[in-house]
Amino acid sequence: MSLQIRPATSEDLYAVVGLLQSRKLPVAGFADLLRAQPEHVRIAELNGLVVGSAALDVRDGNGLLRSVAVAHDLASLGVGTRLVNDLIAQARQADLTALYLLTTTAAAWFPKFGFTVTDRSAVPAALANTIEFTSACPASATVMRCSLAAPVTDGAALPDIQP
Ligand SMILES: CC(C)(COP(=O)(O)OP(=O)(O)OC[C@H]1O[C@@H](n2cnc3c(N)ncnc32)[C@H](O)[C@@H]1OP(=O)(O)O)[C@@H](O)C(=O)NCCC(=O)NCCS
Repeated sequence: MSLQIRPATSEDLYAVVGLLQSRKLPVAGFADLLRAQPEHVRIAELNGLVVGSAALDVRDGNGLLRSVAVAHDLASLGVGTRLVNDLIAQARQADLTALYLLTTTAAAWFPKFGFTVTDRSAVPAALANTIEFTSACPASATVMRCSLAAPVTDGAALPDIQP
């Protein structure tokens, strides 16, 4: 059976929590997020087993990307990339302004998706108040941001509109 990326359901909770713990990621707030925003939680499933996860906590037009984890056995097969790209595409469709994340382990992995390091003070209040920011992740974690705004068009390429 091939790998499947699909939306999560409440039945995935314990499998994902196990996966997050195995990859040493915080689980605080994950159950609440799955209950409140199941459409923003993605699962990678292989042969009936949860082998990957990624989630977006969407608040006030921005998203916090969290719980990005892939089972150790399946490392470097592109599973994490598929999960993150899937959520970024969903965030663009929903017209979110930007995505943010906190990481202590993968700051070198996220730039390929467009994330750059930013300052905690630049994080919108609605996201800064999530449990990830207030207690689950250490204050030393790297904060990253990915803008989802449409690229600015070069003025020279704009049509010449006459009054
Ligand atoms: C980060 C993670 C999700 C990547 O998943 P994955 O499915 O193995 O990644 P992909 O197969 O899509 O990408 C693999 C590439 O990323 C690199 N990579 C993997 N983890 C990395 C990390 N933590 N930092 C930097 N690069 C990393 C691999 O070396 C590989 O590089 P290559 O293509 O040059 O060989 C996975 O390693 C993981 O679960 N890590 C622990 C949890 C974590 O740190 N999550 C992110 C913070 S929420």
